[in-house]
Amino acid sequence: MLGRTDLEASTTWDFPSQSAGHPEAGDASFNGVTPAGCAANLVRRYTGPGELVVDPMAGSGTIGDVARALGRRVVSFDLAPRRSDIFRADARSWPLSAQTAALAVIDSPYSDNVVYSPDSRCLGRISCRDARFYEEMEKVASEAYRVLRFGGILAWIIADEYRAGVSTPVGFRLLGFLEKRFEPIDTIVLVRHHDRSASPMWEHRARRFNFFLRGFKFLLLLRKPEWTGRTSREIVAALRERVGIAAHRRQDRIVERAGRHWIAWRSRQADRVFAEIRPLRGRVQVFILPRPRDLMDSAGLARRAPRSQGWGWFRSRFELTSMAQVEPAARLIVQSYEHGVRKRNGGRARSPARNKQSL
Ligand SMILES: C[S@@+](CC[C@H](N)C(=O)[O-])C[C@H]1O[C@@H](n2cnc3c(N)ncnc32)[C@H](O)[C@@H]1O
Repeated sequence: MLGRTDLEASTTWDFPSQSAGHPEAGDASFNGVTPAGCAANLVRRYTGPGELVVDPMAGSGTIGDVARALGRRVVSFDLAPRRSDIFRADARSWPLSAQTAALAVIDSPYSDNVVYSPDSRCLGRISCRDARFYEEMEKVASEAYRVLRFGGILAWIIADEYRAGVSTPVGFRLLGFLEKRFEPIDTIVLVRHHDRSASPMWEHRARRFNFFLRGFKFLLLLRKPEWTGRTSREIVAALRERVGIAAHRRQDRIVERAGRHWIAWRSRQADRVFAEIRPLRGRVQVFILPRPRDLMDSAGLARRAPRSQGWGWFRSRFELTSMAQVEPAARLIVQSYEHGVRKRNGGRARSPARNKQSL
């Protein structure tokens, strides 16, 4: 175990070797291996004994090895597992339940400079100059968000690219995407050693042709925001605004009724309830009219609604756990609204309500 004084205090982390302090962790010869000291600092700062650490692009397994040695629970997986204690899974679909992890450490490819496996899903096959690179990384971030507990920490190691005279600020771009869901804590500079380009020949070329060799990686530190009553109020308000605009376009208005645990939205024109919203602890649950297969649902949010839940006539349900899901969720509710208006049926029996408000 490291002593407390071994924790890094500044935003520059410079470890003399990959295995310093943890000789058994990972494999120093693995291309793109994480310094064990980096993993130890993250685990010690952001988790307690017994808490879950996830390493979804595990490579040679450094992060899991360090976390286990420090008494944490670990789930390590990779598209191309190199050891039997590392599962095979895609980092865009984590084999874990929601809100279970205290820390996720992601050491991802940062462009197509290293192909890690023949698997076509390897993210090391996509250039960081391609917009798809960030779209796929956003899917990884979305899984991290789902699996981390509220207040949990995301640590993401990434590097910029300079290739053939073109500089791509991958770190800043990725941070822009991550900030949609997570609160930034800080940005650490991880000093790079022993890169193939750290040779007199490359140093000569860098001076001769006026460019710079990569001297560091970024370690982006972010937090999944704590869930508060305000979070659900903000989500419901954002959904209300977007659905209100869709109704306004049809010269319609939405009438809101609120019970103790639910909010129902009804089209005034069609006199039909088309959505029920339930703000719960840590999530907002929504019930809507169309079946999942009848929805345009690019984010894959909708599930079949059990008859026993909702008010019986809703066919789909979905949940939001962050503001970042408001846009796809609002699109589903608008489809339910359109469905309700098309199938106007003179309204359903109304439940007793405490509040009634036109949006
Ligand atoms: C930079 S390496 C990780 C290094 C690791 N932290 C270590 O210490 O050895 C990136 C890893 O991401 C994995 N990877 C690439 N695409 C993936 C995907 N879609 N899902 C899961 N792992 C993926 C690669 O197989 C590779 O092992």
